[in-house]
Amino acid sequence: MTQTETPKTEKKDIPVNIYRPANPFVGKCVSNEPLLKEGAIGITQHVKFDITGGDLRYLEGQSIGILPPGTDKNGKPHKLRLYSIASTRLGDDLDSKTVSLSVRKLEYKNEAGELVEGVCSSFITNIKPGDEVKITGPVGKEMLLPEDTDANIIMIATGTGIAPFRAFLWRMFKESHPEYQFKGLAWLFFGVTTESAVLYKSDLDWMSYKNKQNFRCDYALSREQKTADGKKMYVQNRMAEYADELWALIQKPNTHTYICGLKGMENGIDDFMIETAAKSGIEWKAYEKEMKKAGRWHVETY
Ligand code: FAD
Ligand code: A2P
Repeated sequence: MTQTETPKTEKKDIPVNIYRPANPFVGKCVSNEPLLKEGAIGITQHVKFDITGGDLRYLEGQSIGILPPGTDKNGKPHKLRLYSIASTRLGDDLDSKTVSLSVRKLEYKNEAGELVEGVCSSFITNIKPGDEVKITGPVGKEMLLPEDTDANIIMIATGTGIAPFRAFLWRMFKESHPEYQFKGLAWLFFGVTTESAVLYKSDLDWMSYKNKQNFRCDYALSREQKTADGKKMYVQNRMAEYADELWALIQKPNTHTYICGLKGMENGIDDFMIETAAKSGIEWKAYEKEMKKAGRWHVETY
């Protein structure tokens, strides 16, 4: 396949906007579990919603909208917020009856020094089993997995950007499907602050231990590890340690690269790619454009 040919992706039956804000699906919280270990900063939760009794269905890599209850400062109902789906299409219980999210509570100090809590992320991270939640979607065609089970899948995540990759990896290595038996290489670069903040760490470590030939997992712990030249260890710095190997892999026509999480990491990854591609005389921005056109470079940041 040449660079510009579109590889086979799951384009067949992609569910989109089954539920819209004017007529959302009303689901119920099944569980709300902490994802951070003691010592980690902030609150990040794995939240599972019951979606039985409606038509909501989704694919790995899609997002749903959540409508937080209440009104904004103008008295208007709050607008929806998008969240990447962290479960496979089967849901965490493999019965297609649930959808799960990985949600970080937004907290910051405003100019007056007061603590501000995000509207929707506070609602979700505080939700109790049995509570109702208004759901829209699903949306998103950017982060779908290719159908090709021999494809190589490079995943670059910061924080809750792991959500769609959890879905990918669960589909590849935890569930079994006659129609999807993953045989390529999955390589995850995952950046968080500290080891106690590595979301889903025991599952990720277990999967890489059990699937050594097919799954590599590299963490970048920004507040515990440093680069050789003494800088914070960010995902792009961890990637730089494997620059030649990664560059060879990225160029293969059956390799898909996915980036999800903090918008801020895009520049750092860009710089790394520009420098790495230049070593083989390739101008990265033009090459990236071609990769995007071919459906092999996928970015969802927020
Ligand atoms: P709001 O009450 O809406 O507050 C957000 C606003 O606060 C910002 O617009 C900004 O004006 C202000 N603000 C934020 N930080 C600061 C700061 N440091 N200083 C000053 N002002 C600030 N989130 C997840 O947790 N998990 C996910 O999987 C996830 N997936 C997403 C997928 C997509 C495609 C997109 C677009 C976003 C995703 N998000 C995810 C982010 C999510 O949609 C919300 O934006 C987030 O939860 C904050 O919403 P909120 O209602 O809590 O905050
Ligand atoms: P830091 O906050 O130490 O600067 P979390 O959701 O657990 O906070 O994880 C987000 C991770 O992304 C943190 O390790 C954070 O590092 C890191 N990060 C922040 N800015 C960037 C950036 N520009 N490029 C790559 N990683 C970043």
